[in-house]
Amino acid sequence: MNEIKTDYDSFLAEIYDYSPYFGKERREKDYATQFYLDNLPDKNKGKILELVTCTGLLTIPMARAGYKIDSIDVSPAVHEIVRRKMANEPKKVINNITLKCCNAFDYQTEYIYSAIVIPDSFLHAVADKQLQEELLKKCYKLLDDKGTLIIDIFVPWEDIISKGDVKQCTRFRTEQGELYIVYTHHLINSNNQTHRFDFVHEAYKSKKKFYHTIVYRYMYL
Ligand SMILES: C[S@@+](CC[C@H](N)C(=O)[O-])C[C@H]1O[C@@H](n2cnc3c(N)ncnc32)[C@H](O)[C@@H]1O
Repeated sequence: MNEIKTDYDSFLAEIYDYSPYFGKERREKDYATQFYLDNLPDKNKGKILELVTCTGLLTIPMARAGYKIDSIDVSPAVHEIVRRKMANEPKKVINNITLKCCNAFDYQTEYIYSAIVIPDSFLHAVADKQLQEELLKKCYKLLDDKGTLIIDIFVPWEDIISKGDVKQCTRFRTEQGELYIVYTHHLINSNNQTHRFDFVHEAYKSKKKFYHTIVYRYMYL
């Protein structure tokens, strides 16, 4: 059985923006990013806390729009991707972003934010009800009384929840043209509302395989 890790290793960080199970849709369509930008408070009224950075698909558009952001992720590998993207941005955008590599639950600061954003389904990736509540309480403490909290609520394919056990196979290409076949085994536990993904990514030519397990706690009935 695959080891369940929450921080993304360099393989997941590299494929994140191209895989249909991760950031592909967010990279190609701007409706989610636009929702955040449309609902954030005045950029001159304070800083934004982002939980979590992932590959910066929201961080960079917010910084381009003039927001100052403290962005947290426990994975050095995803921050490396973001730094690569930041290298192509003007200095004023780069200066708006502070990357903090730490566990979101351990993050300590005296600063009170005007907005907290939880994109890329991070609240679901905290696959435990108590911890989800703990994270929301932490946001409440770090947020100004009139602050804004924006959260992604991921809605998975309904039939996977009702079927309980589904196997899929699909493929995608990275920007560099590498082709991956991805075998996914979905397993639902309706008692604790968890959706487990066992992924095997196979590099098309080399046949090299990468194994990962990710667990979500879904929040709807
Ligand atoms: C947003 S979550 C998962 C959701 C993602 N959309 C997906 O499809 O898997 C993935 C990111 O959360 C980060 N992460 C996971 N647990 C974390 C924690 N406790 N604190 C900070 N970052 C965390 C990982 O390193 C990764 O960059």
